[in-house]
Amino acid sequence: MAKIILTGDRPTGRLHIGHYVGSLRRRVELQNSGNFDEIYIMIADAQALTDNADNPEKVRQNIIEVALDYLSAGLDPEKSHLFIQSQVSELTELTFFYNNLVTVQRLQRNPTVKQEIQLRGFSDNDEDNKAGTPVGFFCYPISQAADITAFKATVVPVGEDQKPMIEQTREIVRKFNSTYGPVLVEPEIMLPDNEACLRLPGTDGKAKMSKSLGNCIYLSDSAEEVWAKVKGMYTDPLHLQVSDPGHVEGNTVFTYLDAFCKPEHFEKFRSAFVGKKVSFEFNSLDEVKEQYRKGGLGDMMIKNFLNCVLNDTLEPIRNRRHELEQNIPYVYEVLRKGTEIARAKAAETLADVKRAMKINYFDPGVLDELIREQSEKYAK
Ligand code: TRP
Repeated sequence: MAKIILTGDRPTGRLHIGHYVGSLRRRVELQNSGNFDEIYIMIADAQALTDNADNPEKVRQNIIEVALDYLSAGLDPEKSHLFIQSQVSELTELTFFYNNLVTVQRLQRNPTVKQEIQLRGFSDNDEDNKAGTPVGFFCYPISQAADITAFKATVVPVGEDQKPMIEQTREIVRKFNSTYGPVLVEPEIMLPDNEACLRLPGTDGKAKMSKSLGNCIYLSDSAEEVWAKVKGMYTDPLHLQVSDPGHVEGNTVFTYLDAFCKPEHFEKFRSAFVGKKVSFEFNSLDEVKEQYRKGGLGDMMIKNFLNCVLNDTLEPIRNRRHELEQNIPYVYEVLRKGTEIARAKAAETLADVKRAMKINYFDPGVLDELIREQSEKYAK
């Protein structure tokens, strides 16, 4: 069986380092591994509209931002098809048929949707017209099943919050295949293998990096912006003086180091501390942690190191982004071509689906058969 990847993001803002370690970095690795036959990366604008119906302009503006982030992070249009969800109308058609395979009660149990409804205040009981959950939002897990199955994806690399969506997709696949015949493919989720990457906290230590909380480091941030954010980061509130013993667990600086630090960084960044009051003599993250726990390692020191580590990843991304920003026609051409290919693939699956459901009345040969069958019925 072909090995196929589908994944994507809602274009509601620029991508941040939580997106990067949670999924984007892995996608680039998978893309370059050569182990996959087809790779589809979707900008989920239609899904973004399920809770931004009043602001299509925001979604429209962010399509290019996400595309720029994708390309600068290393997604290669020669290897991965980048496309825009709303331009593949086959996806909405599949969703319409899958709607019948899912109950309202099952959707209500989806923990991510439940949480998001809370977060957005949709369940609040105020006089405001805003209260209430848009039906499209409530049903987005079904549309996500369409996204995944349209491409016969076998692997979906996503963050942990998407687990319930993949589970729901698998249920839909089983239900479809047992009802209509074996057409759809059950996808596997692929989560980050590093604990710190599963859910990167915000710079303020809050559980999630999110634009509305203002605690993000964006892939497109300048070196100055990154340093300002790192300087202001939440560490260990009990670690007041350099000599105090510090906590590593729940310390955002260490969580980011867990997510970004590579063995070669110790050698590479030793020189960054030359001429400072203190020298940086560590050879591994474990050594840094041990010293911090014992006391005698200041927050500014580890923040300086983290800044070096982050920029080691972010600088090449930033530079590629600046180049691409000067070549916007190229970026749209990538999306247009990717969408064309995605559309052809989704159309094939939709045809398979309709055939299995026997709602392909006018397909070649089918109409003749239908006429014969119905004529016979009335000839009796
Ligand atoms: N829900 C994903 C997000 O919030 C975006 C998305 C839409 C997606 N359809 C998908 C991800 C299909 C993986 C597979 O970013």
